[in-house]
Amino acid sequence: MQQQLIDNFGRQISYVRLAVTDRCNLRCQYCMPAHGIEIAPREGLLTFKEMYRIIRVLTELGVTKVRLTGGEPFVRKDFIKFLEMLSFNDLLETINITTNGAMIAKHIKTLERMEKVQNINLSIDSLQKEKFHQITRRDVFPEVYETFEALEKSSLNLKLNVVVQAGFNTDEIVDFVALTKDKDVAVRFIEEMPFNGKGQRDIQENWNYNKILEEIKTKFDVQLLNSEKSSTSKNFSIEGHKGSVGIIPAFTRTICGDCNRIRITPTGTFKNCLFDDGVFNLRDFIRNGAGNQDLKELFLSLVKDKPENGFVAEANRSKGNVSESMSTIGG
Ligand code: GTP
Ligand code: 5AD
Ligand code: SF4
Repeated sequence: MQQQLIDNFGRQISYVRLAVTDRCNLRCQYCMPAHGIEIAPREGLLTFKEMYRIIRVLTELGVTKVRLTGGEPFVRKDFIKFLEMLSFNDLLETINITTNGAMIAKHIKTLERMEKVQNINLSIDSLQKEKFHQITRRDVFPEVYETFEALEKSSLNLKLNVVVQAGFNTDEIVDFVALTKDKDVAVRFIEEMPFNGKGQRDIQENWNYNKILEEIKTKFDVQLLNSEKSSTSKNFSIEGHKGSVGIIPAFTRTICGDCNRIRITPTGTFKNCLFDDGVFNLRDFIRNGAGNQDLKELFLSLVKDKPENGFVAEANRSKGNVSESMSTIGG
């Protein structure tokens, strides 16, 4: 039996979120400031070869699922080649991607051909061109909507991520739910979190899980679905709808008890939790000559200290804006 990544609370790690870049082609208000973004120097980013090695070692320790995030993963040069490279890892069952979709319509056929690439999560916070522009600070709604329609028709599983922003898109919640009538898509509403990279937004906390659910119920009858225990979202079906609806709470529920994930940032920082500050720099370790066996031993020891409930630790620390951005953590 191969060695497994198991933490001090008995949780087994099978899912790694790898942010392949901190760069992004959009500037969502809740994620980044409009100007003066701090980005890592190019040589500070992990190379694809380094990422491949890290993932290979992790899969030898029981990881079967990787989700590639960013920034925007597709802005990293040769990202498609990296997907092909990762596909060679026979221990990896699925390769999933979280993207803003603005530059990927032309790649969808290629993605469909890659057997391991299965689940695409598309971020889309408004269905109105002008509002979309305002939220993302870029005028790319037509491109993103084209990607949405193409993905929905493709063989890939599709989820939409909608960050609920009081005063901006809360009036569109029912429009998003209406999309699930004829489209085979899981629409997930996300409670806004305070990772906005020194952005200016103050979170209006009143749009929490319950309020979002109440808003949905004003127009639709929803039934709770059984979801995987480690799922970030609570999911619902609506009779007669092809798709489903989900809500991802930030402050009003914790999934920590069933957490099966770790994270790696674009500069190679290993994170046991969305809310920790990063516990080890893998890039420097590798560049200083660490071999695969060293990496293996390191991972086995690092995961032991995964916090029991990172969410509570964060709540105790601060509920204000956090200067780190989702784009540097990978969400
Ligand atoms: P699946 O692989 O489809 O389950 O996707 P996912 O929900 O894990 O990932 P996605 O990249 O679509 O992220 C959706 C939202 O969930 C983002 O706002 C993430 O920040 C948030 N999220 C992801 N992982 C965690 C986590 O471990 N804890 C919390 N609280 N939120 C998370
Ligand atoms: N709060 C909640 N979700 C966020 N995301 C980015 N920043 C935030 C935030 N401050 C979401 C993106 C993307 C996912 C990876 O994280 O919309 O869908
Ligand atoms: Fe880019 Fe995603 Fe951040 Fe928006 S949320 S600026 S798409 S990394």
